[in-house]
Amino acid sequence: MTQSVPLHTKAAAPTAAELLDFVRRAAADTELIASLPLDPEGRTWVRLEGPGGSEAWLIAWPPGTGTGWHDHAESVGAFATASGELKENSLAVRLPASGWKTLELAEDVDRERRIGPGQGRAFGRHHVHEVLNESTTEHAISVHAYHPPLPLLRRFSRTGAVLRLEQVERPEDWQ
Ligand SMILES: [Fe+2]
Repeated sequence: MTQSVPLHTKAAAPTAAELLDFVRRAAADTELIASLPLDPEGRTWVRLEGPGGSEAWLIAWPPGTGTGWHDHAESVGAFATASGELKENSLAVRLPASGWKTLELAEDVDRERRIGPGQGRAFGRHHVHEVLNESTTEHAISVHAYHPPLPLLRRFSRTGAVLRLEQVERPEDWQ
């Protein structure tokens, strides 16, 4: 009796751990990292093919640059530093999906971590953070992956404990 094997099986969505594995490997690929042009004036980036249909980016951060506060809707993600060091400030709180313009954060929700060469971190849905290169002299280079590919990204400004929704960006804004 023969067993039938489907020719095309639908791959399961990659988990945050699988994305972390991908970004770590890519960050360790010295040829890939060296291929990214650096610009002292601003971030440079190249889109990569992430695993399982995920969205991935190789990004160079000049000294003093950062993302500002944002979240990633329903996507899970991961990033890893290839060179230099990134600082991540994040919020250990789930923000309401809609219906607000400003909100006051509780005192104990701030988290920070530093991600040096060879290090990475994964994050779940609704993760809120900003990523910065605080060095005054050195570029940082990192690899990021998201699944599903980002449908939108909410940008926030922050004054003390007050977070304000500033903008909702969609993929067409990033072309
Ligand atoms: Fe992010």
